[in-house]
Amino acid sequence: MKRVLLSLAALMLLTATVGRASEPENRPLYLNPDAPIEERVEDALSRMTLREKIAIIHAQSKFSAPGAPRLGIAELWCTDGPHGIRPEVLWDEWDQARWTNDSCTAYPALTCLAATWNRDAAKLYGVSIGEEARYREKDVLLGPGVNIYRTPLCGRNFEYMGEDPFLAAEMVVPYIQGVQEQGVAACVKHYALNNEEQHRHTTDVDLSDRALFEIYLPAFKAAVTEGKVWSIMGSFNKYRGTHACHNHRLLNEILKDNWGFDGAVISDWGGTHSTDEAIRNGLDLEFGSWTDGLREGASNAYDMYYMAQPYLERIERGEIGTEELDDKVRRVLRLTFRTAMNNDKPYGSMCNEAHTEAARHIGEEGVVLLKNANHNLPICPDAKRILVVGENAIKMMTVGGGSSSLKVKQEVSPLDGIKSYYAGRAEVIYARGYVGDVTGSYNGVVTGQDLRDKRSPKRLIEEAVELAGTADHVIFIGGLNKSEHQDCEGADRKGLELPYNQDDVIEALADASDHLTVVLITGNAVTMPWLERVESVVQGWYLGSESGNILASVLSGEVNPSGKLPFTFGHRLEDYGAHSDGAHFPNHDKVFYHDGIFVGYRGFEKRNIEPLFSFGHGLSYTSFDYSNLQLSKREICDGESIEVRLTVRNSGGCRGKEVVQLYVADCEASLPRPVKELKGFTKVDLEAGESTEVCFTIGRDALCYYDDIRGEWIAEAGEFKVMVGASSADIRLVESFMLR
Ligand code: GLC
Repeated sequence: MKRVLLSLAALMLLTATVGRASEPENRPLYLNPDAPIEERVEDALSRMTLREKIAIIHAQSKFSAPGAPRLGIAELWCTDGPHGIRPEVLWDEWDQARWTNDSCTAYPALTCLAATWNRDAAKLYGVSIGEEARYREKDVLLGPGVNIYRTPLCGRNFEYMGEDPFLAAEMVVPYIQGVQEQGVAACVKHYALNNEEQHRHTTDVDLSDRALFEIYLPAFKAAVTEGKVWSIMGSFNKYRGTHACHNHRLLNEILKDNWGFDGAVISDWGGTHSTDEAIRNGLDLEFGSWTDGLREGASNAYDMYYMAQPYLERIERGEIGTEELDDKVRRVLRLTFRTAMNNDKPYGSMCNEAHTEAARHIGEEGVVLLKNANHNLPICPDAKRILVVGENAIKMMTVGGGSSSLKVKQEVSPLDGIKSYYAGRAEVIYARGYVGDVTGSYNGVVTGQDLRDKRSPKRLIEEAVELAGTADHVIFIGGLNKSEHQDCEGADRKGLELPYNQDDVIEALADASDHLTVVLITGNAVTMPWLERVESVVQGWYLGSESGNILASVLSGEVNPSGKLPFTFGHRLEDYGAHSDGAHFPNHDKVFYHDGIFVGYRGFEKRNIEPLFSFGHGLSYTSFDYSNLQLSKREICDGESIEVRLTVRNSGGCRGKEVVQLYVADCEASLPRPVKELKGFTKVDLEAGESTEVCFTIGRDALCYYDDIRGEWIAEAGEFKVMVGASSADIRLVESFMLR
């Protein structure tokens, strides 16, 4: 008996000991996933050596930072880009690692997302791309981009969300939330004033504080204060003489002090240029200096980074303390505990049907019907022969364009999508029409397409015209592409016109067909000298994996288009403020944004310039009536809000979606203000004949301008107008109120 009792006691002691050894309280606090993040941060910081603190704030490879191996603090892995998860590259290189399991879903470009004017679509986008980043075990998604569309020549506008700060701000927040719900940090970029590409490393931007706070920063501010974004990427350019990646005013004063950003500022890849500035001006994580880890010879170049050995030596020489370093380390640790060491995050997924459907839905919501004469679209159901013309009907667009380039599981070309939809219904034939960019590779990813063509431009047009005469409907699919000086990072366009003599092709087709639709695959505005001669024009965007299925859906009428332009189409380059008054472009040194707050429609309306197509414009296969605009008050005091209500009715013959836009005009401002500014929008889905009530709330923010003398937001007493409509140029109802 005694032996039994002793054995039992021993067993209980052993159990208790073993049990105790695995008890959470025995683990260091920072490793306890249930502990508050701030406590984990402080505990981890207290255990790190000086060298470990230096190591954690700069890259160890092309896209990763080392964490602290001794303490079990995880590495941080970053990935491009805003439209899909970049294929794996070599440790130190931009070149492909040649994995065979890293093909992704390509979602429509962010200009298309902005063109949906659908906050739910932005959330769906963030969730879907975040799931693919998570599945690929990435901790930071290097996107989305929200730089303002100041010039139609900027090579990266396709990665951004248009010309209006309110639209960009409203659309970036749900995207961030969707990504971060997956335990992946969004990294909103490029902060700030990266509005052209050609000389992005040297352009030194200056501008009024009104323009800075009213136009160029609101989307970043919303990302931080509403989206709670966990990281921000500094841009390459300078602002008032200092590189944005270590700019005291942008990073310390505005981002961290004023907006309360608690995440990590990550440099653009090669955006760091000074140890002292990086230390003092708010950079937290240095990537991409010298682009690879080997260039500095035998010693590991990552140790040569501005925030590596040089920083350590300054501390060891007593030239600087560790206060700034500890703040950087806290932010990197916080980012790590939110992502890599977040035990509650989902597991992600890759290239599944839900992602394909998300890509398709977003694209179908974002395609914009610019013109549709004689009900030319949707394509007549009786059409028996459809001619598709143009290189962009067959050219892969997911490869190229810079860091947003992708290796996709599939990309349905416009021609293939149209052929697939009309299989068994109509014959679909093709003519090249023109030869544009026949290259097909970027960063080691190849399209496999051979687009070379020896036929002369004249012959190509003749062949297309011959076929056009035999077709019931002709669809020209052209625009720009992702090659240099088109829609591409690192370079800007050289003009507003369509390249590759496409205007000649369109004119010739207009002679040969009364049912001509032009589809523009671009991320930017282009000129349209043939506009009067073409029945329909569709802004098609870069639509990603589901391109062809999206376009087929819209052109056939399976989907009623509901996209609205996120930027203005001008007739001429000089119509844009960035190019008016003989302004120099591209800029490679100091540039003052003389157009100030008058960017996009704000500028067109200030200068009474009629656009080709206005901001917010987009047609439908049905029509909508607006009526009964009511304001809850006719007079308010500063700080009070107004409820706005109206009725929208689908007055046409088929179901459709409408983006109801609310603009505000300050009629008595003491400072110059735009004719109107977008301050609200909502997308409604109505059956033919159906009506709905739409409500908006106008708060103080919607009335303010930034007074850069007083350094504050001012809602100035006087009359304001509420304008509601289907675009910035199609205002249907107006009411006024007084601010006392
Ligand atoms: C590039 C881009 C940036 C990208 C980064 C990593 O230079 O400017 O958007 O995320 O480097 O590829």
